[in-house]
Amino acid sequence: MAIKKAVLPVAGHGTRVLPATKSIPKELLPVVDQPALQYVVDEVLAAGIEHIVFVTGRGKGAIEDYFDEAYELEHSLAQKSSKAEILKDVQRTKLPAGAASFTRQQAPLGLGHAVWCAKDIIGDEPFAVVLPDVIVRAKPSCLAQMVAAYDKVGGNVIAVDPVPEERVSSYGVIAPKSRDGRLVEMSGMVEKPPREEAPSNLKITGRYILQPDIFELLEDQGKGAGGEIQLTDAMVRLMEKQAFYAYEFEGEEFDCGSKAGYFEAVVAHALEHPETAEAARAILKKYAAGG
Ligand code: UTP
Repeated sequence: MAIKKAVLPVAGHGTRVLPATKSIPKELLPVVDQPALQYVVDEVLAAGIEHIVFVTGRGKGAIEDYFDEAYELEHSLAQKSSKAEILKDVQRTKLPAGAASFTRQQAPLGLGHAVWCAKDIIGDEPFAVVLPDVIVRAKPSCLAQMVAAYDKVGGNVIAVDPVPEERVSSYGVIAPKSRDGRLVEMSGMVEKPPREEAPSNLKITGRYILQPDIFELLEDQGKGAGGEIQLTDAMVRLMEKQAFYAYEFEGEEFDCGSKAGYFEAVVAHALEHPETAEAARAILKKYAAGG
């Protein structure tokens, strides 16, 4: 069955970048001239997804407004011919009617719980989960690459990215069974293994294609690491019944949920944006030379 729906959980508190995220959702922090979330929505739409389920929470109302009509703003921009391009950029952010749902996670009990909150909207079909604080720069989009892999093998597919071996203990990594090009059949996954015990250096990245059977496992999934209901724990249980593949995507990821990752995302995108590339190069040169 084709992947037509994606869940974007946006209900977390973003504690790693507080106080910036005290009154602004982390997912709306700007990366040059677009919120991080816009890059992720573009990735999702480029993968042929027709319906996005946002799992929101208290204080996240700005996300719904961002994807809606901004009548006064659009009207005001339309009065000035010099603002025609900006008006186009603003109008591009609207999601087509009926293409988005918003459901609420009353408390951030964990990623697994956030995904479970979308179960009635997803129904009985395979779907994608895309973490919106991770931007992936890739062509075709990371999720499009995964969907193409899923179309060949079915089952469950999770995106992975190789990391230097000395850093594996900071991440969730997969255990490989067999490999065919970028696709790795998995035998397991472990959270933050000691370097010498790590089954691979393939880090789990925040994009998943899952079968709907995950929902009944999430239903009774107890708390795991950090006292949160973890998606990983339910995936480990699903792996006992269904095939899981890791897909080593081609592209570059930026973890905008951390200070350094967010900074890198801004620098990388500023260096490529036609309006900022030249200035960004000059600024970087100036500070690299000591200010
Ligand atoms: P993170 O763990 O990176 O986000 O979850 P967080 O909890 O907001 O951030 P920190 O760790 O406190 O800094 C990845 C994604 O899952 C969402 C977050 O909004 C983020 O986009 N999430 C996480 C939920 O929607 N609900 C949760 O209970 C937990």
